[in-house]
This record gives sequence, C-alpha cells and structure tokens, in this order.
Amino acid sequence: MEFDPQRLAQARHLVVFSGAGVSAESAIPTFRDALTGLWENFDPARLATPQAFREDPALVWGWYEWRRMKVLQARPNPAHLAIAELARRVPRLTLITQNVDDLHERAGSSSVLHLHGSLHHPKCFACNRPFSGELPEPLLPEQGCSLEPPRCTGCNGKIRPGVVWFGEALPPHILKEAFKAAGECDLLLSVGTSGLVQPAAQIPQLALEQGACVVHINPQPQTCTKPEEYSLVGKAGEILPQLLRQAFA
Ligand code: APR
Repeated sequence: MEFDPQRLAQARHLVVFSGAGVSAESAIPTFRDALTGLWENFDPARLATPQAFREDPALVWGWYEWRRMKVLQARPNPAHLAIAELARRVPRLTLITQNVDDLHERAGSSSVLHLHGSLHHPKCFACNRPFSGELPEPLLPEQGCSLEPPRCTGCNGKIRPGVVWFGEALPPHILKEAFKAAGECDLLLSVGTSGLVQPAAQIPQLALEQGACVVHINPQPQTCTKPEEYSLVGKAGEILPQLLRQAFA
C-alpha cells in the first residue's frame, strides 16, 4: 500500500521526528563525518564525553566551535522549510529533532524539542547555568583546533557545549514532552534518521503502538512491520515539498 498524501491534510496532531539526514542537504557533517579533516585522528569518545572535556577542555571546545561555525555557514534546505510550512497547515505540529544545529529554527519552526541539545546554547560545566556572555566569532576551519572555553559569569567554571554527550542523560523534560507527543499524535513523519540511537529511536515505535500512522522518509528503504507504517524512499528535501504540494494542492 502506498501512503496517501491526503492523510497529511487530515492529520490533527502531526509529529515530525528529524535526524541528521534532514541537515545533510545543507552540507552539515554528521557526527561521524565531522571527524574528518583536521579532526580525523580523533576518536569520538575523546571529543564527546564529560571525561574528554575534563581531560582536555580546549580540544573539545575547539571541535564544537568548529562544528558551530559549519552550521552558521549553512542555510536551511527545502526539507527544513517544508517542515516549517507544515506547521502552518495542520492544526497541531510537534517537531522533535536529534540535530544539534539550529536550521529548523532558522527555517521558521518554533518550539523545537532538541533531544540531543544544541550547539548554540552552551552552559557551565560546573554549575550548569546557561552561558550568558557573547560567543566569539566562529573560527575558520584552518584555525579550528584547541581553543580555551570561556568562563561562567556566575561561578567561573568552564563553559561546555550544550549538547548531550555519550554517557549523559537526555534532558528529561524534553524527552517527556517528546514521548507525550508521540503517544498522542495521529501521524508521525520520521525524517532522515537511522533510528539506531536510543532512547530517541523509541519515538516512532511508540507512535505506532499508540495507533498512529508512521512514515519514514529516507534514501535508504526502511523496513515496515506494521500496516500503518510506510517508507518513502528519497531525499527529505525532495519528498517533503512534494508531499506538501500533493496534500495541500
Ligand atoms: N534525506 C533524508 N535522509 C537522509 C538524507 C537525505 N537527504 N541523507 C541521509 N539520510 C539518512 C541516512 O540514510 C540515515 O538513515 O539520514 C540518516 C542519518 O542517520 P544518522 O547519521 O545515524 O543520524 P541520526 O539518526 O540523526 O543519529 C542520531 O546519533 O550521531 C549521533 O547524536 C548524534 O543525534 C545524532 C544521533
């Protein structure tokens, strides 16, 4: 059975669950791709854990500042724009992302649930307070190596990236809201995610179990095990605008 785009027009509560594939067409390197070039000799475990930050804060901060610079140079693509447009077309939309960039927001989406945090909201490693100072101009790639993190204006602790590192819990209030939306929605679009990273990967599963229709949008065909599960094979930047046109013509 084919997915009928009219179901998008009929959705009362739509959840969009996005992953790295949505930003791929904006040329944002995925986590693993980001370990190329200057950083190719580094193990992710040396860059994305609290332990790594404790051992070499300047190395870790430098890597994330380089990634933030890559994001600031990028622009939202047709997939981000189509998702923002969908929010204007359906009665209710909850956008849950695993991405740490701000391209959904820059495309016009609001109230984005960032399950894995954000490159753009650093916080204090010691007291957890959000960083209130100005971040310096992002670095050029060739300068992107070790960089001393700024200090917390409250406790003078070191500022760390506001992302969820390996071994850290996801922000509980965001996870709770995401699970609630997945449990209540009638349609969930799972876009550009491999569905391998837990607990985020439970979100489409939960929606299916609660009786929602789940549509995967990915260049890699996804295995569908339930009658209400569909796989649309292709790039998010092509499939989403096409779905919008078909549903709201
Ligand atoms: N459109 C749609 N999907 C795409 C596109 C595209 N243009 N290009 C690639 N993809 C798909 C890939 O086929 C893959 O299934 O996007 C998915 C990306 O998978 P991952 O790199 O595993 O990204 P994600 O699912 O977001 O990973 C979750 O893992 O690396 C950690 O914390 C990081 O948030 C990330 C988490």
